[in-house]
This record gives sequence, structure tokens and C-alpha cells, in this order.
Amino acid sequence: MNPPAVPPPRHFASDNYAGICPEAWAALAEANQGHAPGYGDDVWTQQATDCIRDVFETHCEVFFVFNGTAANSLSLASLCQSYHSILCHELAHVEVDECGAPEFFSNGTKVLLVPGADGKIDPSGIERMVKKRTDIHYPKPRAVSLTQSTELGTVYSPDEIKAIWARAKSFGLKIHMDGARFANAVAALGVAPKEITWQAGVDILCFGGTKNGIPVGDAVVFFDRDLAREFDYRCKQGGQLASKMRFISAPWVGLLKDGAWLRNATHANRMAAYLESGLRPLAQVKILFPRQANAVFAELPRPAIDGLRAKGWRFYTFIGAGGCRLMCAWDTTESDVDRFVADLSGLLGA
Ligand SMILES: Cc1ncc(COP(=O)(O)O)c(C=O)c1O
Repeated sequence: MNPPAVPPPRHFASDNYAGICPEAWAALAEANQGHAPGYGDDVWTQQATDCIRDVFETHCEVFFVFNGTAANSLSLASLCQSYHSILCHELAHVEVDECGAPEFFSNGTKVLLVPGADGKIDPSGIERMVKKRTDIHYPKPRAVSLTQSTELGTVYSPDEIKAIWARAKSFGLKIHMDGARFANAVAALGVAPKEITWQAGVDILCFGGTKNGIPVGDAVVFFDRDLAREFDYRCKQGGQLASKMRFISAPWVGLLKDGAWLRNATHANRMAAYLESGLRPLAQVKILFPRQANAVFAELPRPAIDGLRAKGWRFYTFIGAGGCRLMCAWDTTESDVDRFVADLSGLLGA
């Protein structure tokens, strides 16, 4: 009898399968000294806020919440009244993966869907949606929500964001950005963070940390500071004000202060490129979307999917527009990729 196979140490299911990166872990340990004021009144939260202001080169308002769903929902709720609507891509996380939380926290703001290739909003779709109905009986469009990098692993260029901004501005719409993988987009584009946020019209960014190496927590970053008014109350009421806030904010300091966030994202993107280069030569594998950040979407024959799972690999097949989503993280190694490609090649008889 063959000995049981050793399960893969890391997976391609999600970048949130990865643990805490060393820089965030060290900051967390350092924060775990003695007593500190609660509810964000501590030095770590102040430092994390300063780090974010440095990264974006502007005096933004920053709030830390527990996860991306809370960040997106509360920030969208802060933009909208219950009779408003939010325009987003039809595959946006806020639409398909947040269990109706944006509608719930905004007391019923309607989410309207805009199509577009490769997970990106087509700017002309904004105009079409806004003009579709302008009467009192239809919810009034108030905000556009973009995901950067997108749910399909693609990235909006600065010009693409500016094109959306131009349309949004002409209709008086605010711009919200779901940046669960914002770091991967910055690393992919090689731009300054300001170039794809406030300089391109973004009013609010939900800056994701968990997929980039911290244990828990997203930062809600208001570039339009007036919009941040009373957001602290919204966080508290929504159960998102951590009493031991330093343990959410300290890892951000570790991640941001010496550039680990960009190193982590650059590495994850490079592993995805390496994975793509291993998959492309396999005749029965079809790469589905341009691989621009840390995800590869691929169509595989059903028996190969089952075979990979039998070998212990975990990955999702329900995300986006179909196919297998193979997501690389800050700690994915070349040998993880080699092993996955070798297992798949064996199953395909390649
Ligand atoms: C595009 C996107 N936005 C937001 C999130 C945040 O979700 P969570 O509430 O699980 O932190 C995720 C997580 O998978 C995501 O992929």
C-alpha cells in the first residue's frame, strides 16, 4: 500500500489562507506590552494612521474595522441615503459576496449592476444606468464602487479610473474603491498609491490588509474628509469599533512602515505570473482572464479538478465568471507552484 500523500502546505484557494507576515507579527508582539488605552486612543492606532497618510501622501481620515465586508458596507452606507443607489460591476464583492450587507447597513440603498469585460466597469455602462430612469420612482444613483484589483484578478489603470471618474463626476456620483487587494494593484501598476486613488477621483478606499499579511482588519480611508463626519459612530453602532484596537492597528504599522506591504504584494503577483507560465503550456488548460495581479483563473477538465482535490489541493470554482480561481499569497513559494503544476500535468497525462 502506498503511504498517504503529504498534503500541500499551502493552497491556492485564497490569499486569506496565508498566515501573518513576520513584520506584522513583530509589531503585534511589540504592541502586546503592558496596558494601552482602548477604542483607538492608543499610540499604535495613531502610528498606523500616520503610516497610511504617508503611503497616500495626503491628510486622509482613517478608521480601522474588522473586515472587508464591514469596510465596504459602512463606507457605502456613509455615502448613501436609503433612497439612493450604488453602481458596481456585476461581479463585485459588494454585490455577490457580502450577503446584502451594503443594503442592510444603508437601510436599503439599491445596488445596481454595470457590466464590463474582465471584471471592470465599462464607463459607458455608468451613463446607461444613470439615464435608464431619472424619475422619482427609481432610486437615485449616488456612488460608483470599483474593485482594485478586481474580482477577476485584473487591474484598473490610472486612465481607466479617471475615465470612470469623468463619467461619475458628470452625474454627481462619489467614487468608492474596494481595495481588498489594493496592494497587489499598486505592485502590478508600479504607480504611487495616490495616482490610483485621490488623484484619480476616489473619495473612499477600503484598504485591505488581511490578504496582504495582517491577521485581521481593513482600513477605511476617506480622501474626502467631509464624508468621514460621524463615521466613528457608524463603526460603533455597526459593532466595528474594537475595544483593543491596538491589536488591529499595530500589524498595519509593521506592514506599512518599511514597505512590507509592497514586497508582499509584489511577491504574490510574481508567484501568480510563475503559475501562469507553468499552466500555459498545458493543452487542456485555458487561462480565462489577463493575469495582472495575484490571481490566475483557469478552466480545467472536470476530472483534473477532482484529481487535484483528491491530492489535497484547495481552490475555488465558484468565484467570478467560472473556472478555477488560483490565488497566490505573500508566502506562496515556487515549490508550491511547481508541485501544483506537476500534479496537474500528471492528471492530464501531459
Ligand atoms: C474583492 C473583495 N472585497 C472584499 C473582500 C473582503 O471580505 P471579508 O469581509 O471576508 O474581509 C474580499 C474577500 O475575499 C474580496 O475578495
